[in-house]
Order: sequence, then structure tokens, then C-alpha cells
Amino acid sequence: MREGEVAVELPARFDASLYFIGRIRTPWKRREDCPKNPRETDAACVIELDPRWRAALEGLEGVTHILVLYWMHEARRDLVLQAPRHYSERRGTFALRSPVRPNPIAVSVARLLRVDGDRLTVVGLDCIDGTPLLDIKPYFASTDSVPDASVGWHEKQKR
Ligand SMILES: C[S@@+](CC[C@H](N)C(=O)[O-])C[C@H]1O[C@@H](n2cnc3c(N)ncnc32)[C@H](O)[C@@H]1O
Repeated sequence: MREGEVAVELPARFDASLYFIGRIRTPWKRREDCPKNPRETDAACVIELDPRWRAALEGLEGVTHILVLYWMHEARRDLVLQAPRHYSERRGTFALRSPVRPNPIAVSVARLLRVDGDRLTVVGLDCIDGTPLLDIKPYFASTDSVPDASVGWHEKQKR
């Protein structure tokens, strides 16, 4: 833990269970080698879908961008206040895109380059090699994009 960070006791039991539906293959073996966000990289990554779910890819042809949800399996889950290494100030977990959260679910909008069987090649991921895959959804620019959205603390930091 870094100075000023605060952890809480985790609940005694889980409320739900989920399936890992594949693994994500990326060039990065260590967290510190990953891009900080998906727009920082042009590296092609491969989503290896469990063949059981292959039929669920039907209709993805013609989809240019997908929402990829993945499970940050190396992240701790108990921090409520965090001081990420690349930001100077401490903030609440829900004000951050840090992988450290009660349910370490990550999301990225990735460009879909091709689908070969149960392998999807994409650009726009920021996780370590072998990260478990939770879900894939088409990205709808018409409803998912909010061009005038802003994050106050981040805007101030850029000035
Ligand atoms: C800031 S998070 C953003 C994740 C996602 N784009 C989001 O916004 O939900 C990305 C960082 O998580 C860390 N990371 C990558 N893969 C991880 C994993 N499997 N477990 C824990 N941390 C991971 C790396 O330090 C990477 O730079």
C-alpha cells in the first residue's frame, strides 16, 4: 500500500459467480509493462475464446469496435482510497479506472481487426498476458459515446 491509501475488510462471502469465457493474449507479462489505458497502444492482442462459446460470435462480422470486459486477476480488492503510481493525489476507487476495486472488472473499447474461429485479433487492450475474459459486446457509437462527458479532476490535471 502507498501512503494515504485505505483498505476495508472484504465481505465474508460472494453474492454471485461468473464464468471466465476465455483468455487474453497480450505482449505484456508484467503489470508495470502494460499501457495505462487502451488508447496508448497499437499492439495487436488476441482474445482466445473458449470454443464452447464460439457460436456466440455470429453477427460480429461488420462490427468494427467491441467492448471487452475482463477480470484483473492480479489486483487486490479491498482499497477504497488509492494513490495510483502515475497520479499525484489520492482518490476514491470509484473515481478511478484502477484495476484495484471490489470486483476487478476492466472494460476497454477495442478495434476488432479479424475473427478466426474462436480467436479475435484486436487493438486497444491494456492487460497482462493471460488475463481472463468476462464478456464481449458490440460498441455502439450512437449510444455508448458521450462526446461532452468529462472527469473533473483529470481535466484539472491536464491544464
Ligand atoms: C488502469 S487499468 C484500466 C483497465 C481498463 N481499461 C478499464 O478502464 O477498466 C490498466 C492497468 O491495469 C494493470 N493490469 C493489467 N492487467 C492486469 C491484471 N490481469 N491484473 C491486475 N492488474 C492488471 C496494468 O497496470 C494496466 O496498466
